[in-house]
Amino acid sequence: MLWETKMNVNQVVEIRTRTMCYFGVGALQKVNDIADWMKKEGIDKVLICTDKIVYKVTGVWDVLEPVLKKRGIAYVMFDEVVPNPTVDGIDKAVKMAKELGAKAVIGIGGGSPIDTCKSCAVLLHPDNAKYNARDLYTFKFAAEKAVPIIAINTTHGTGTEVDRFAVASIPELEYKPALVSEAIYPTFAIDDPAIMTKLPANQTRYTAVDALNHVNEACTSLVTSPYVLMTGIETVRLISRYLPQAVAHPDDLTARYYLLYASMIAGICFDNGLLHFTHAMEHPLSAVKPDLPHGLGLAMLLPAVIKYTYPAVPEILAALYSPIVPGLQGVPGEAEKCAVGVEKWLFAVGVTEKLKDCGYTEADVDKLTKLAFGTPSLDVLLSMAPIKATEDVVRAIYRDSMQPLA
Ligand SMILES: [Fe+2]
Repeated sequence: MLWETKMNVNQVVEIRTRTMCYFGVGALQKVNDIADWMKKEGIDKVLICTDKIVYKVTGVWDVLEPVLKKRGIAYVMFDEVVPNPTVDGIDKAVKMAKELGAKAVIGIGGGSPIDTCKSCAVLLHPDNAKYNARDLYTFKFAAEKAVPIIAINTTHGTGTEVDRFAVASIPELEYKPALVSEAIYPTFAIDDPAIMTKLPANQTRYTAVDALNHVNEACTSLVTSPYVLMTGIETVRLISRYLPQAVAHPDDLTARYYLLYASMIAGICFDNGLLHFTHAMEHPLSAVKPDLPHGLGLAMLLPAVIKYTYPAVPEILAALYSPIVPGLQGVPGEAEKCAVGVEKWLFAVGVTEKLKDCGYTEADVDKLTKLAFGTPSLDVLLSMAPIKATEDVVRAIYRDSMQPLA
C-alpha cells in the first residue's frame, strides 16, 4: 500500500523551504494570513502580475480581491504576462508599480507570471532603482535585493514558487537567460491543488514534464547530492503514477495534489542541484519561437539528452527512471534503452511531438547551438553537465531530437 493513501489532501500544511509554502486543498485561503502579514510589515500597496485569464478562471481573484480590499491594501494589476515573458513586459509592470508606490509583488499564475513578478521585485527595490529589465537580464548588476514576493501558483511544473530562479526573454537578441538570486525566493507561496483542476490536458502534461526535466538535470549535474537525489527520485515516481490519472480525470484532487507536490520538490531539487543540457538547450528553442511551451520543448529534447548522458551516470538515471523504464540495471550500455523507454512513456502520456513537428529543421541547429553557448547564463548551465558539453554534443542532441529516437 502506498503511503499517499494515508495523507489528507484537504489538510493545508506548512512546508518550510526558504519560502513558507502553504500546501494542500484550500491553501488559497491563506491569502488572509499573508495579507495580515503585509499590513503588519507596513505593506499597503502591491503590484500583481498575472495574465488576462488565469487569475479569473482559477478563482484566485474571487478570493484575493476582497482580502486586499478588506485590509485597505491598494494594488495595480499587470495582466499582460505572456508565455515566455519579455523584458519589455517587466519594464511596463515596474513602471505601473512605481507609479503606485508598490512595496511588494504578488504573482498569480505559472512560471511566466511568477517569474515576471520576481524580476519586478528586484527592480522595485530602491537600491536597484536606476536599472531596467534589460540590465537585469544582461547581468549589468548583482540582483542582491528585492521587495517581498508572494507566489500564488496555478500550475504543477516550474517549482518557481519555492526557488531562486527567474527567466525572461530579450527579443532582439533572441536570448532567454536565467536569473539566479537569493533575493528572489518568494516570502510566501500558495500551492493549492484545487486551483489546478482547470489546467487543460496539454498544460497538465507539459508542466509535469517540466518538473521531470528539473530533476533529470539536477540529479545528474556536477553539484548533485543525496538530498537532490532523494527529491528527484520521488518526483519521477509521483509523476509516473499521477500524470496519467490527472490527464484522464482533471478534477481528481489526489492526482493534482501529488503532481503539485512533485513539482514543488522538483523545484527544491534543482534549486540545489541546478540544471544543464535540457534547459540550456530548450531556452534557445523558445527564444526563437516564443509560442513553444517550455515543457514541450524540454520533452522533445529529453530522450536524446538521456542517450548522451546516461553512460556517465547510469546508476543515477536507473534509480530515477525505474518507475518509467522497468528493469534498468544502472550500467552504461543501457543508454539507448533508457532514452527510448522515456520517449515511449512521453508518447504514451500524450506528448508525441518532436522538433520537426514544431517547425524546426536541420538548418536551425547551428543557430540554436550558438544561442545555447552564447546566451548569458546558459553557458553556466552547460558547464554543470555530467559529460563535457561541447558544441558537437549539443548539435547532436538537437539533431537527434528532430524525430523520434526509435
Ligand atoms: Fe523548467
